[in-house]
Amino acid sequence: RGAQENEPITETTDPSEGRFRSAEWYGGTDRNAYLHRAWMRRGLPNHAFDGRPHIAIANTASDLTPCNSHLDEVAEAVKQGVYEAGGIPLDLPVVSLGETLVRPTAMLWRNMAAMAMEEMFRANPIDGVVLLGGCDKTIPSLLMAAASVDLPAVVVPGGPMLNGHFRGVPLGCGTDVWKLSEEVRAGTLDEDLFLKSEQSMIRSKGHCNTMGTASTMAIMAEALGMTMPGIAGTPAPDSRLLVTAHETGVLAVDMVRADRRISEVITKQSFENAIVALAAIGGSTNAVVHLLAIAGRLGIDLTLDDFDRVGAGVPLLVNLQPSGRFLMEDLFRAGGVLAVLNQVSDLLDPAPITVTGAPLVDYVTNQPTWDEEVIFPRQEPLIEDAGIAVLRGNLAPLGAIIKPAAASPELMVHRGKAVVFDSIEDLHARIDDPDLDVDASSVLVLRGCGPKGYPGMPEVANMPLPKKLLEAGVRDMVRICDGRMSGTAYGTVVLHVAPEAAAGGLLAYVENGDTILLDVPGRRLELEVDAAELERRTVAPTTADGFASPSRGWERLYVDHVQQADTGVDLDFLLGGSGSKVSRESH
Ligand code: FES
Ligand code: MG
Repeated sequence: RGAQENEPITETTDPSEGRFRSAEWYGGTDRNAYLHRAWMRRGLPNHAFDGRPHIAIANTASDLTPCNSHLDEVAEAVKQGVYEAGGIPLDLPVVSLGETLVRPTAMLWRNMAAMAMEEMFRANPIDGVVLLGGCDKTIPSLLMAAASVDLPAVVVPGGPMLNGHFRGVPLGCGTDVWKLSEEVRAGTLDEDLFLKSEQSMIRSKGHCNTMGTASTMAIMAEALGMTMPGIAGTPAPDSRLLVTAHETGVLAVDMVRADRRISEVITKQSFENAIVALAAIGGSTNAVVHLLAIAGRLGIDLTLDDFDRVGAGVPLLVNLQPSGRFLMEDLFRAGGVLAVLNQVSDLLDPAPITVTGAPLVDYVTNQPTWDEEVIFPRQEPLIEDAGIAVLRGNLAPLGAIIKPAAASPELMVHRGKAVVFDSIEDLHARIDDPDLDVDASSVLVLRGCGPKGYPGMPEVANMPLPKKLLEAGVRDMVRICDGRMSGTAYGTVVLHVAPEAAAGGLLAYVENGDTILLDVPGRRLELEVDAAELERRTVAPTTADGFASPSRGWERLYVDHVQQADTGVDLDFLLGGSGSKVSRESH
């Protein structure tokens, strides 16, 4: 039934409706309300403007973000749920960041995506938002944006791809690229075969199927209470993803009616639950900067030390690549995230609620584990103490991190001579040089890869090992970098060194042959060079190419305002939130 000329068009039909934000645009009989309604009448019926909840579906689908390219289908399922609950669903395409293609690193654009999304959530007549993400930076940027606007918000993770197989064994995306390419360099795998594995690796829609950053951040969203419980890790092609997406659409409308905002769902205790989950799943180190950044938007005092404190003693239970053997499809089959959380439920804070309004812990009790090779029992974990370790010392006064679950036990306390690279280009140019002065006990140092230095803090810290050492059978070495590491990578890699070299950190002054001490149990990272010698080195830090100094555009803004890794790499002026109020009209 379309609007008839003689019909009143702005009446609120349901007395319980009409108190929502969108009514500020559509309610009333003045010129502006006319304008807002008139332009939206391309299929929207009269009753769309009676004050019912309008739900944006913030969609990061893009052909250039292959991990998220199926999200239009997911959005369709969300839409049906929103309609069913009496709301109005609205497509809102937002900035999409694909990890594999975007240069120089998707991380350079995480804050830009979050800033653009935040402004669009606030500027538009919406009462709540469903956040569709997948590939690494998409869920973090969506959550950062939603936190700064503080509307009712709920995440639908797009889900991992199905297991690939090669040579009869599962092939994990990311992790096995690093492994197979090192095999080619070591001369143990033909390049032909290597190239053949390409198609088996990416077998279906969805994001990386290892416990990389995308899988980790989907689970972090669930542990923070921001998803329908049980959805994280549902494979992208699994029909149950669409079912839960539909239910999420219904829930989003309920959340608006209950005025359940993100600030009510996510508290300091939710972050502590997420940190427990992060250790138990052996999640990506990138979660550290993303969780810190989300906390910064909410004004929650989360620190690097909270990761060490809360993660201490949490066992690694999930046997997934890169720390273990299986892939995300196996985790889902074995009982999924809720089964994992059930195993560590005594470590969870019972207070934090989820988007449903019920506490997270309510959903984890009685969640069985179906395969104890994938989800290890609490009594016999893969590793007893899987929390991320925070290191400090003169090389990282603000902190650096290491993921013991991905590192070699025999390198946890190590003293070695530095082999220094000033940039990723310098590393690539020299790492395979047969004359490079390096042995298995050396400590590889890569600098100029922090937030300001690159700029954007790329995932380069898991430096390839020197070819001559690979050929000699060496498979791990201590590596130190002010950049990040892919969540799918592994090795004894010290990451996120703060302050970075480009911000004047001591990392900039390390010279070849200096002794470096890594002591993970003692939480120390020291450059063992005497003070007098260090005094002599007070020259301005430079690298082969000099640190980045962009002259204009986003990169200029980014370099001028980005914060260090220990606080989440957000821009200083984006901390906190501005709420959802917009006081002025556009016409
Ligand atoms: Fe998108 Fe790994 S490349 S999740
Ligand atoms: Mg990544």
